[in-house]
Amino acid sequence: MNRRVMLDMLTVIDSVGIPNQRLKSETTEQLVNDYRSSIAEGSLVGVEIKENRVPDTEFEEMKAFVFEYLAASVGKEEEGGRMRWYPWHSAEYRHNHILNVVDLAEEIARKEGADADVTRVAALFHDVAKLEADQELHAEAGARVAREYLESRSEYPESFIDQVCQAIEHHSYQGNLNDLALETQCLIEADLLDKIGANGTALMLLRMGYEARTHMDADEMIERVLERGYDAASRVRSDTAESIAHQRLKRVKWFREWLEDEIAAMG
Ligand SMILES: [Fe+2]
Ligand SMILES: [Fe+2]
Repeated sequence: MNRRVMLDMLTVIDSVGIPNQRLKSETTEQLVNDYRSSIAEGSLVGVEIKENRVPDTEFEEMKAFVFEYLAASVGKEEEGGRMRWYPWHSAEYRHNHILNVVDLAEEIARKEGADADVTRVAALFHDVAKLEADQELHAEAGARVAREYLESRSEYPESFIDQVCQAIEHHSYQGNLNDLALETQCLIEADLLDKIGANGTALMLLRMGYEARTHMDADEMIERVLERGYDAASRVRSDTAESIAHQRLKRVKWFREWLEDEIAAMG
């Protein structure tokens, strides 16, 4: 069990007056089980549980909402507007990017002790407005969409909604990540990491096809992915994100070496 959840639970248990003697004499697992049955019996009404405020079923509903929102934004576009033929301007690509960011952000949040629920909901909504708003405005617009969605489900605490929306609104921040809340930092790190590594390389190669470039330009394109990777590695702040960045950079370097090894005109 996550140490932070355990600490939260122990704080709650302590505050509702279970004798200290009991804390000393029983295992933590027993205490947690007692705590769970107290909740089931309704004896701890009013105590806010910090983790798992968003059950997986609700999170799945949010995912469906975000995908439908993106698809509807593309539908509203005039044909050919804003280079819609690029794959990363499709609802499918954007949704896939969002799901990658959700996974990465959640992993970083759990390992770094951030609020995992705030982080994963913020990650899910972070680019929801990307296909209907300009780049400079999409973060703010996304926060508005998320607030409207979350407020229409009245069970979310106001403080939770505020934290989620703040992370979405700040996800385009270009300054030092230490200036931000930990959950926002996790989101930005995840967003950066999805653009590098094998996935970043595949996208860059796909882009070459859309630009009618030959595969001989591949080394130049991979160089760009590497540069982006170095930028990301120098910008992230958490140990977790840093180690993912280095792992991904290594994959891109391998790919470049393999290409140079196999293609005579390269290297
Ligand atoms: Fe974004
Ligand atoms: Fe993004």
